[in-house]
Amino acid sequence: MQIFRAIFLLFVLHSAALVAAQGSSSLANKTISWKTLSGNAPLVIARGGFSGIFPDSSSAAYSLALMSSLSNAILWCDVQLTKDGAGICFPQVKLENATDISSVFKNKDKTYLVNGVSMQGWFSVDYTLNDLSNVFLTQGIFSRTNKFDGNLFNVLTVDDVALQFKPPGLWLNVQHDAFFTQHNLSMRSFVLSAFRRVIIDYVSSPEVGFLKSITARLKGSRTKLVFRFLGQDETEPSTNQTYGSLLKNLTFVKTFASGILVPKSYIWPVDARLYLQPQTSLVLDAHKEGLEIFASDFANDMPFSYNYSYDPVSEYLSFIDNGNFAVDGLLSDFPITPSEAIDCFSHISKNDSGQANPLVISHNGASGVYPGCTDLAYNQAISDGADVLDCPVQMTQDGIPFCLGSINLIDGTTVAQSSFSLRSIVIPEIQGVPGIFSFNLTWKEIQSLSPAISNPFTDYTLYRNPASKNSGTFVTLADFLALSKTAGTVSGVLISIENAAYLAEKQGLSITDAVLDTLSKADYNLSAKKIMIQSTNSSVLMKFKEKTNYELVYMVDETIRDAENSTIEDIKQFASSVSINKASIFPENLAFLTGITSVVPKLHSFKLNVYVQLFSNEFVSQAWDFFSDPTVEINTFVMGAEIDGIITDFPGTATAYRKNRCLKLGDNIPSYMNPVQPGGLMQVITPQYLPPAEAPYPVLTEDDVAEAPLPPISKTSPNSNTGGSAAAPTSPSQQPRITACVFLSTLTTLLAFLLLF
Ligand SMILES: *[C@@H]1O[C@H](CO)[C@@H](O)[C@H](O)[C@H]1NC(C)=O
Ligand SMILES: *[C@@H]1O[C@H](CO)[C@@H](O)[C@H](O)[C@H]1NC(C)=O
Ligand SMILES: *[C@@H]1O[C@H](CO)[C@@H](O)[C@H](O)[C@H]1NC(C)=O
Ligand SMILES: *[C@@H]1O[C@H](CO)[C@@H](O)[C@H](O)[C@H]1NC(C)=O
Ligand SMILES: *[C@@H]1O[C@H](CO)[C@@H](O)[C@H](O)[C@H]1NC(C)=O
Ligand SMILES: *[C@@H]1O[C@H](CO)[C@@H](O)[C@H](O)[C@H]1NC(C)=O
Ligand SMILES: *[C@@H]1O[C@H](CO)[C@@H](O)[C@H](O)[C@H]1NC(C)=O
Ligand SMILES: *[C@@H]1O[C@H](CO)[C@@H](O)[C@H](O)[C@H]1NC(C)=O
Ligand SMILES: *[C@@H]1O[C@H](CO)[C@@H](O)[C@H](O)[C@H]1NC(C)=O
Ligand SMILES: *[C@@H]1O[C@H](CO)[C@@H](O)[C@H](O)[C@H]1NC(C)=O
Ligand SMILES: *[C@@H]1O[C@H](CO)[C@@H](O)[C@H](O)[C@H]1NC(C)=O
Repeated sequence: MQIFRAIFLLFVLHSAALVAAQGSSSLANKTISWKTLSGNAPLVIARGGFSGIFPDSSSAAYSLALMSSLSNAILWCDVQLTKDGAGICFPQVKLENATDISSVFKNKDKTYLVNGVSMQGWFSVDYTLNDLSNVFLTQGIFSRTNKFDGNLFNVLTVDDVALQFKPPGLWLNVQHDAFFTQHNLSMRSFVLSAFRRVIIDYVSSPEVGFLKSITARLKGSRTKLVFRFLGQDETEPSTNQTYGSLLKNLTFVKTFASGILVPKSYIWPVDARLYLQPQTSLVLDAHKEGLEIFASDFANDMPFSYNYSYDPVSEYLSFIDNGNFAVDGLLSDFPITPSEAIDCFSHISKNDSGQANPLVISHNGASGVYPGCTDLAYNQAISDGADVLDCPVQMTQDGIPFCLGSINLIDGTTVAQSSFSLRSIVIPEIQGVPGIFSFNLTWKEIQSLSPAISNPFTDYTLYRNPASKNSGTFVTLADFLALSKTAGTVSGVLISIENAAYLAEKQGLSITDAVLDTLSKADYNLSAKKIMIQSTNSSVLMKFKEKTNYELVYMVDETIRDAENSTIEDIKQFASSVSINKASIFPENLAFLTGITSVVPKLHSFKLNVYVQLFSNEFVSQAWDFFSDPTVEINTFVMGAEIDGIITDFPGTATAYRKNRCLKLGDNIPSYMNPVQPGGLMQVITPQYLPPAEAPYPVLTEDDVAEAPLPPISKTSPNSNTGGSAAAPTSPSQQPRITACVFLSTLTTLLAFLLLF
């Protein structure tokens, strides 16, 4: 039964997790000379397999790692010894965090000293390999999905991993030798006997004594010994020196090891606020000594320095492609990402324009990096290479159109902390909760506020660039157009218009006239740039259709599973492009993709461009299927769904994607640059762990699209007419709709209380 399940699982993984997974091609070696010790491409080392998604050291984790990584990827096994001296692969000396042992052997926990520290739990030394045959691996890191815990993944021995997976390279890490010695078990005997049975490429340990004890026996073999550094202040048990002081004598390390493995902060230190400090000279020092150097602690779903803007590829590149040095290997829980970084993203010239598709459209400028719609956010989007800069237009009380992500100043400014906080009001036509609205303040008053960075993921304690959270200045539509016009790489602007009917009727403000007027004064149509007008309300686009020939973009503000042909024909009347949210293409349930809709091919068959929002780098914004890697997500939407444009808070990640050299490989594209199979991971979930089925999303109908024409501008003074609390209730078609937020809130429920940081 179990065997059948395991075979089925491997079959599913093979056929489903990645389309046409052929991790064969490796461009990296052929074209590039690396600043590694050997001059070859850095290695990818998969810690416990693909432990970022499947239980650490499980068969699924090891197979997925091999399927999704460079063809020479190395499987990492943390070796622990059982009571009968068998070597198993398991991340910790205690078993209960990532197995179900505490329920199999109830109340059998023990307390032992481990390197002088008293620890309580279920230790491998108390169980024989046979005892462990009834124990199954589970997800031990609580911010990761536990949905695969029903798969009865067996504990694997070192021999199992070597023989079942035949990895291109096997790395044994012996974290504890002294502890097992205290229990009369010999790691040395185990490693030396395993060495005779299977091919072991690397053995690492943070214990000098252990490495010294095997170095003579392994001399002349292909097995390399690597000294693992722990925290600089921790004491190495056999020399009684701190790792920090051992680091000062690499000549000594070279006497018993051919390489070192260090936490990434040894190479790129971060300060207490998680900002990068200047790189150390450690990689150069190690190479000078003839030591290989490997960096550890890479995971896409753990906080890393803000300097990388939540883009894990850019973090890897700083270790392998920084002009000065390259580490010899990267130890990662998500081996697909360093594989991409090494083979597809390294050594790309800044000049490389990459492929043209998809269009990269900013969302409130580079709002993942700076407060949205500020000069800083726009300049960042320009230097990131965005094609289209966006301005969501809002109106001030004195009729000035300016750019801000929301009509409610509480989002995007410090108004709530200002004296204007008294101007809070409920306007049901706009939103159900109180707000302080842009049309209630003059431009001068708004300029007295500070911008505030958007922080959509505070529930997971993920913040954006805190050092710049209130920096930059607000930008009028006129300034925005001037800025875009002079930016050589920017090919167009996308101007979003919402709440036009309310502003006209209740505030006497014509946002559409203000936009047209500003555009004509800016003489924008004479520059060679494209002007896109986006709205969720067809009446706004109709107004622009009458007056201009701009590219009109209809934004669908609900998640849909399909659209009627007649509806699309209606949309064709006033738009040439449509923007939809991610879940309208890849529906998901509890952050697992459930499949793919035909919305994109359908819109394409009517010759409409399809732009997709909203892409963010933070891993919690992505379905599990994308491996917490924003590049895998983008790639799947581009190659798997053939979208025409990406609307993103982090344009730099999308433009870097377009430049990656693996896109040119056609049929030879490596597995890590293939789109994921939507619904593939869901198939690996056992029935009792499956999320309950959800009602399908609605179909977009003509009623959703049809709107009354924009009302005339009221002559009433806004001052006498702002109180919205008595306004008539909205008609059924205007009820709040399911939006992209639903996607994020399901993740919220799943993860919010689990995140350990
Ligand atoms: C690069 O070439 C070297 C030597 O030819 C080889 O050992 C190594 O595995 C290759 N690396 C990759 C990523 O193919
Ligand atoms: C095991 O999980 C507990 C929380 O239940 C945590 O406090 C502990 O640090 C974990 N141990 C290890 C070795 O990860
Ligand atoms: C290890 O062996 C010694 C000597 O045979 C014995 O005294 C000791 O109790 C053993 N320790 C353990 C943990 O089994
Ligand atoms: C290690 O150092 C501590 C104090 O620095 C000392 O008390 C202890 O005896 C030393 N242990 C060994 C094994 O040298
Ligand atoms: C560093 O280690 C080497 C080799 O063990 C030794 O000869 C040398 O004296 C050490 N240097 C220092 C400063 O301790
Ligand atoms: C990281 O970002 C901070 C804040 O912007 C900056 O001061 C620092 O120089 C950056 N670090 C590196 C290594 O670029
Ligand atoms: C990049 O472009 C600049 C100016 O266009 C040129 O001077 C430079 O040589 C180019 N660099 C590369 C690596 O092509
Ligand atoms: C702003 O809103 C307040 C209510 O909070 C209202 O009394 C005032 O008239 C409004 N001012 C303008 C200029 O719209
Ligand atoms: C540019 O805008 C002006 C003023 O709205 C209009 O008269 C002119 O025809 C436009 N030119 C082009 C090329 O669209
Ligand atoms: C909808 O349009 C597509 C593409 O034009 C066409 O293939 C399909 O048959 C149409 N469906 C219906 C129900 O008319
Ligand atoms: C769209 O605009 C029309 C006026 O043109 C207005 O009546 C309608 O309420 C608006 N629809 C939505 C959903 O805001």
